[in-house]
Amino acid sequence: MIYLDNAATSYPKPKTVMAALQDYLENVGASPGRSGHQLAAAAGRILFQTRTALARLFQLNDPGRIIFTQNATESLNLALFGLLRPGDRVLTSGLEHNAVMRPLRRLEELRKITIDILPGTTTSHYDLKLLEQWCDQKKYRMAVINHGSNVIGSLAPLQTMLPILKEHQIISVIDGAQSAGAHPINLETLDPDVFCFTGHKSLYGPPGTGGLYIKKGIEPEALLFGGTGSRSETEYQPEFMPDRYESGTPNTLGLAGLKAGVEFIEETGLDRIIEHERGLADYLRRDLKEIPGLKLYEPKPDEERLPVISFTIDNLSPSEIGHRLDREFSIMTRVGLHCAPRAHQSIGTFPQGTVRLAPGYFNNSKEISKVVTALSIIAGGHYD
Ligand code: ALA
Repeated sequence: MIYLDNAATSYPKPKTVMAALQDYLENVGASPGRSGHQLAAAAGRILFQTRTALARLFQLNDPGRIIFTQNATESLNLALFGLLRPGDRVLTSGLEHNAVMRPLRRLEELRKITIDILPGTTTSHYDLKLLEQWCDQKKYRMAVINHGSNVIGSLAPLQTMLPILKEHQIISVIDGAQSAGAHPINLETLDPDVFCFTGHKSLYGPPGTGGLYIKKGIEPEALLFGGTGSRSETEYQPEFMPDRYESGTPNTLGLAGLKAGVEFIEETGLDRIIEHERGLADYLRRDLKEIPGLKLYEPKPDEERLPVISFTIDNLSPSEIGHRLDREFSIMTRVGLHCAPRAHQSIGTFPQGTVRLAPGYFNNSKEISKVVTALSIIAGGHYD
């Protein structure tokens, strides 16, 4: 079995992540912040250490600005529903996932916001002149920018885009679902207003974990209200971070796994992970280009990218290719629109989509060679 669907969720997880889940279930079990006993204190330590580990990875000074959620979708919903007001104008990119587009479309209906979509599909295709021009002319309250595309792996030039937004006092919300853990991110230097991430992709945590960083001074309305284990004498939600946004019993089990996932990255070295994954992706791309009829959709050769490769093959539907890879060769991929119809419209593959290959740290070059052979057979050619 060859798993190349790491852009959907990373698999397998590091052994230390599995051990952390087991350890929580066997030796901790309690809820953090709800009781004073030693197991509750141990659960509280897990949350604290997970926040601290994420702050180290994202080079943030204050771990208390990180809020836990179930996934990047919830984080984005919190930021968009919590910050956008009736009549606001929002700028976004042509590569967004439905985790951004659907809340925005709902807010278009509910709060009559206006959405402008910046054209462009890869980093060099982002029209930064147009960005400046639109920011000068239109009164944007917020820009929501996809950092790493889950369709073509391109990376938005945040170092250039964020200062433009800041200069125009536009709130920046970054969708880091695909980039967190897969690309170096320094939140103190980049200085976005909100950065959303998921735990189960390149941070190696289990599903049901994620979060967001909210810069001091940015105060979204909460999505959820309820018990926090703090200020229990009042029926009003605490105002302080992170309790303001973290109501209900948290997913301490999942967060124990996420902590181990982040520590795995630190121990292995993000550079080493990147070198391995991008090496496999380069190898794949180079050999796929030799297959007649196969078309890659990708950033320009000199652009930095995530290990996410989208392609089509002439006269074959992506779903047929994916089905044959799975049934005949036990190769797991994701085909279709990847919950990002807007991105597929931008690259010209809507509505049939593409086949997506996403190697991860636990793949090796032997597997990549088998994938190339399988695709050569499916495309009707031969491969030596
Ligand atoms: N957004 C995830 C993907 O790209 C689920 O597959």
